[in-house]
Amino acid sequence: MRRTIIKGTGRYLPDRLVTNDDLTQWMDTSDEWIEQRTGIKQRYWVPEEGGVGASDLGLEAAKIALDKAGWKPEDIDLIIFATLSPDIFFPGSGCLLQAKLGLETTPSLDIRQQCTGFLYGLATADAYIRSNMYARILFVGAEVHSTGLDISTAGRDVTVIFGDGAAAVCLEAEEGDESVGVLSSALHTQGKFAESLMLEAPASREMPRIDEQMLKDRKHYPHMDGKTIFKNALKRLPEVTHEALGMAGLELDDIDLFIPHQANLRINQFYQQSMKIPEGKVYNNIDKYANTTAATIPLALDEVIEKGMISSGSTLMFLGLGSGITWGACIYRFQ
Ligand code: UT7
Repeated sequence: MRRTIIKGTGRYLPDRLVTNDDLTQWMDTSDEWIEQRTGIKQRYWVPEEGGVGASDLGLEAAKIALDKAGWKPEDIDLIIFATLSPDIFFPGSGCLLQAKLGLETTPSLDIRQQCTGFLYGLATADAYIRSNMYARILFVGAEVHSTGLDISTAGRDVTVIFGDGAAAVCLEAEEGDESVGVLSSALHTQGKFAESLMLEAPASREMPRIDEQMLKDRKHYPHMDGKTIFKNALKRLPEVTHEALGMAGLELDDIDLFIPHQANLRINQFYQQSMKIPEGKVYNNIDKYANTTAATIPLALDEVIEKGMISSGSTLMFLGLGSGITWGACIYRFQ
């Protein structure tokens, strides 16, 4: 039976470290407010002068993952690129990354599922692999938020929570029994909550796509109804956990490590407590990187592998909720 196996992971953060205290020079905020409400202490941003896109961060993460997997770029059958902050409006960042990897005609697919980009990407890769269409898939999740944030008091509720960064995962088809690899994927969308976290301009539904009024109304900055997202996360994450467990025929105790999306430490703590999961079983690193959206889960995965937290048979659940709104959970067992 064809199984989807993780062969290598990599992460890449740009150099510019921005602490909560650094943010206070541009906006009325405080280390205390940010830390208490979100658990974030710092984030990394691309250089102020620009010139670094999501595909550039993704390229660095991809090189590390390829190296660990023992793959050359030519070994890749498909690139899946997840981002909400593509280098440009079109073509997708996957196309740009494909060229940067020196590839000629390898296909690429961009996923626009924001915080759940890794979950949708893993489920998609697994479907391609199990259907025999592709054998080696490079997943990349990368975000450059900082060039699109309102770095002033008016934008502080959104700006303080986002960081730039990238992570990559090499996924390969291997023959094995059904107890290893991707065991289940449960995915959902509820578009009626799209407005709770969105970036409205530039927009193809507007003529022109962006104008003075839209700039004045700050529509070129993301806006968020944080409480709606927060409440949905508290409800949907437990629900989808049970759904993914049911699909895999597993119990909560069978999961060795939970890797949730890193949007807010309080969400993940509430999840862990309400599900009665022992504290050390839910991995968090939002304090160091803030919310890197499509990169958060693979970035954490790369860290836990590096820290030696994974052994043969380790069973992980990846889960998250965010803009769309979209949410989901995937279960993976190491060989
Ligand atoms: O991956 C993306 C998915 N997004 C999420 O999962 C986000 C989920 N939501 C959240 O994490 C929280 O809603 C936030 C951390 C974003 C905000 O926390 P909150 O408790 O919902 O705060 P709030 O927006 O209701 O604001 C409370 C107060 C307000 O002041 P007043 O009106 O009470 O005087 C805000 O103006 O805090 C103020 N405020 C800030 N103060 C200092 C908002 N942002 C800041 C800030 N620094 N950065």
